[in-house]
Amino acid sequence: MRTAIVAGNWKMNGNSESINELMGALVDNLQGLDAVETLVCPPAVYLSQVKSLIGNASVALGAQNASQFESGAYTGENAPGMLVDLGCQYVILGHSERRAIFGEKDAEIAAKFAAAIEAGLTPILCVGETLEERESGNTMNVVGSQLKAVLDACGVGSFAKAVIAYEPVWAIGTGKTATPEQAQEVHRAVRAIVAEYDAEIAAGVRILYGGSVNAANAAELFANADVDGGLVGGASLKANDFIAICRAAAQA
Ligand code: PGA
Repeated sequence: MRTAIVAGNWKMNGNSESINELMGALVDNLQGLDAVETLVCPPAVYLSQVKSLIGNASVALGAQNASQFESGAYTGENAPGMLVDLGCQYVILGHSERRAIFGEKDAEIAAKFAAAIEAGLTPILCVGETLEERESGNTMNVVGSQLKAVLDACGVGSFAKAVIAYEPVWAIGTGKTATPEQAQEVHRAVRAIVAEYDAEIAAGVRILYGGSVNAANAAELFANADVDGGLVGGASLKANDFIAICRAAAQA
């Protein structure tokens, strides 16, 4: 039995005041949702603030990125160990915005994944195809090669401590969600790829769907056998929407 996860990826949004307000609502309303792990991923500069706002509530903390290096002359970077020091349990890696805007390649993402595991963080590895790649019938070639790059470099054993997020690039921030059938098809195939390496780890790994998840479509996405929750961008900035999505996952 896989416990669902709903992770809020705030991206580069918010300020001290809006974060106080959002976290106040989440802490009040996410209590008792034992069937789902809830997680917020604020910008790194707000991790400490969010950690103290969480207090004893059962909301986990995650970062949106981490360095592949432990420490040293890497201006502007945050080491995985520093994120652990601030109370993070998770880190999003290989998000399509990191790949497309900041040029992150599979090898770098694999190095970050290994460093995150080493530091005790649970990586949320993002994979996903562009619209062009989908329309040319290459979805599983792209998703498969993004996934295998990390499986081959880090070993399948590391996926016992990791989460995968399938995020079709064409669905991110566009309001164009994958249909439940499209999501399930890719999620099943992703699990099958992990199973080629280790069937037991494949059966246990959580695979989240991301890309325009909202309060209205969450339940039907999460109802799929291989969809173990969501990675939520825009809707995670609105307390009521995020709470509704967490509740949908708890009921799935
Ligand atoms: P979205 O973003 O929910 O705003 O589409 C998801 C993500 O990028 O993780």
